[in-house]
Amino acid sequence: MQMNIQHMVLTISNAVDLVGVTDVFHGRRVGMMAVECAKVLGWPLPTQRLLFDAGLLHDCGVSSTREHHKIIHELEWQDAHLHCEKGDSLLRDFAPLAHLAPIVRYHHTRWEDMAALQVDPTVARHANLIHLVDRVDALATPYYRDESLLLHVAEIRDTISRHRGPLFAPDLVDAFLAASTPEAFWLQMDPAYIPQYTQDMERFRESHASTLGELKQFAALIARIVDEKSHFTAEHSQGVARLARFLGLQAGLNGDHLDKLEIAALMHDIGKLQVPDELLESTGPYSPAERAVMKKHSFATYQILRRIGGFEELALWAAEHHESLNGNGYPFHLQARDIPLESRIIKVADIFQALAQRRPYRAPMPATEILAVLHKMQADNEVDANVVSTVARHLDECLQVALGAVV
Ligand SMILES: [Fe+2]
Ligand SMILES: [Fe+2]
Ligand SMILES: [Fe+2]
Repeated sequence: MQMNIQHMVLTISNAVDLVGVTDVFHGRRVGMMAVECAKVLGWPLPTQRLLFDAGLLHDCGVSSTREHHKIIHELEWQDAHLHCEKGDSLLRDFAPLAHLAPIVRYHHTRWEDMAALQVDPTVARHANLIHLVDRVDALATPYYRDESLLLHVAEIRDTISRHRGPLFAPDLVDAFLAASTPEAFWLQMDPAYIPQYTQDMERFRESHASTLGELKQFAALIARIVDEKSHFTAEHSQGVARLARFLGLQAGLNGDHLDKLEIAALMHDIGKLQVPDELLESTGPYSPAERAVMKKHSFATYQILRRIGGFEELALWAAEHHESLNGNGYPFHLQARDIPLESRIIKVADIFQALAQRRPYRAPMPATEILAVLHKMQADNEVDANVVSTVARHLDECLQVALGAVV
């Protein structure tokens, strides 16, 4: 398993894109616009790449669909700094992407405030450029769908010009005005052309072979983004991963195999980023329409992970956590013979951890009740009997591992 920096950046960006529900590619468009401005400014290719990556990741602190909505529909809003700080704290501890953290940190800071905050001058310019094009994309978003974007370009350029100085550095505004004069600047934001632009940006990058330890850190970063979605799910993915590893160990797995299992478990719910906050926090039984939305999440996990070279098997382990041995699970309706041990373990760990946590509609369940639920599911041939008996043998330990208490 190998993953280079581009893969990591794109995977995080794809995950964060899910939060837009149907409004996708915000990060890509911000990256593209920043690159186009950087070209006008004569900034070198490595800087253009840096800005593209910063564009892709600038909103990694946004896991909530409600917050995403605000970001796209308001020019400045009071709590903008929160997602900047969150994004900064996610990236700063992960060495391969730590260089992007300061840009993310200041991507909603007004230009006039940068000096007082003693932001490094280069970081300040890069962050302010991301800020500027981020707002351009927010202003343009209503018009991408109905093909009327070119009719609104003048008003978008006027809005940005009005903020020349206090909000945005004057020379960055001038660069944006020059870059955005040709229609091509806007036309290339069409979803049909974005993948090609992305591919062009990835050319001639140095490769970076990651270690398994680094992949685990990467998966943990993704897990933090997913778990941030709601306070009810705080640390859910991380708890599932710890428990899956524990159950895998009891089942005789070892070494790299356990690490792979843990990585898959950390990322099993990436697709949940696409579920609207209101639905995750709902207390009532789901309507058929709501259930249909819920059922998309493990398939979305699969689609994001399978794009990473070498992750094919792991993508399945992560995505099969709602499959059932009786063939009635989703999204693939796999039969028992096609469900590997790793997927069976993640499924049990997922159920266990979720039941052990508070949900909007119920209190946390004590371990004995969780076991009763698992036994019932085993009787219905939904979960693996061996995995459940491992849980039964180590019940208290499982609870502690799932909830993060020191064992
Ligand atoms: Fe943004
Ligand atoms: Fe799930
Ligand atoms: Fe889950």
